[in-house]
Amino acid sequence: EKGDYKHFMLKEIYEQPAVLAATLEGRLSATRVLPQALGTAAMELLPQVRQVQIIACGTSYHAGMVARYWIERLAGIPCQVEVASEYRYREVVVTEQTLFVTLSQSGETADTLAALRFAKTAGYLASLAICNVPGSSLVRESDLSLMTQAGPEIGVASTKAFTTQLTALLLFTLALRRAGHQQPDQEDPLEAELVQALRGLPRIAEQTLKLDEAIQELSEDFAEKHHALFLGRGSHFPIALEGALKLKEISYIHAEAYPAGELKHGPLALVDKEMPVIAVAPKDDLVDKLKSNLQEVRARGGELYVFADPYTLLEPEEGMKVIHLPEVNEVLAPIIYTLPLQLLSYHVALIKGTDVDQPRNLAKSVTVE
Ligand code: F6R
Repeated sequence: EKGDYKHFMLKEIYEQPAVLAATLEGRLSATRVLPQALGTAAMELLPQVRQVQIIACGTSYHAGMVARYWIERLAGIPCQVEVASEYRYREVVVTEQTLFVTLSQSGETADTLAALRFAKTAGYLASLAICNVPGSSLVRESDLSLMTQAGPEIGVASTKAFTTQLTALLLFTLALRRAGHQQPDQEDPLEAELVQALRGLPRIAEQTLKLDEAIQELSEDFAEKHHALFLGRGSHFPIALEGALKLKEISYIHAEAYPAGELKHGPLALVDKEMPVIAVAPKDDLVDKLKSNLQEVRARGGELYVFADPYTLLEPEEGMKVIHLPEVNEVLAPIIYTLPLQLLSYHVALIKGTDVDQPRNLAKSVTVE
């Protein structure tokens, strides 16, 4: 039931602090991801993994794209990510010792399930499903599973399923890192730092949701617009993609996302005052590069809306609205920077009067191709 909330989507956005905590529950010690977090079978399998292939659709695919940055950076293992509907119809080359990972809220998405069925005949090391529905086809047919604890997601636009997928993917990444690099009982300072940060994640999510009113104010600028451009760099490029997808799905505003470094290779030609540009600017190595990309937008008269870490020193100015997010560990930032984009699309949709929980033409679970 929706309780006091106007829509399931809003309720599900607000459930995120609790479901992030539930997804971490019982899976962490003070300094590490518990070896049994992925099940005992994984303990034997993970040390053999030399490559990871992730397959998913839609929002779940965006989670996979973030995971690629994490897996290559933190576990030092090559990772490929592809949408299921492409992967399943092309001739793929399967490399040795590759773990096949599917991501799905429902566990019933037809293309993802078909990709898994193909993969089982194609010589992968094993299959892992990261999924929100216990007993779903994907979970039943995979060798390993790691459940997200988002609870039922009713709104067609995925919110809490995405951020819990990211959380589970970070646990998986840290387990892979340990399996590849560490003696089983050796301390790993980076793992300890990230585990500490993960424990603080639900609290930071809660603080971030307090920005709701400020975001609602911003949303008024969007309701009359026909297009929007989302920018991010590194692991926040997929977050920009997810922000654009949310806006398209529930407010029917055409939105695109680009890695900010690609602006001058084409999309900059679209920028004028009718094209709001939304950027996510966490504190990381790329923020100075992002800032110069934002200058390129300003110089063309584009209106900027920036979600930024206070440390970036991005401040509101003529043509640029800035909302500061709470400080968060750089690795976990994609999870937190998703939240304002969810709220933004929700408020724009409210103003437009669309059917937030049941957008036109879409179904919650895509069980046909
Ligand atoms: C977007 C959305 C869809 C799903 C996609 C995959 O908000 O919900 O893009 O993410 O249909 O669904 P699952 O994760 O159930 O496989």
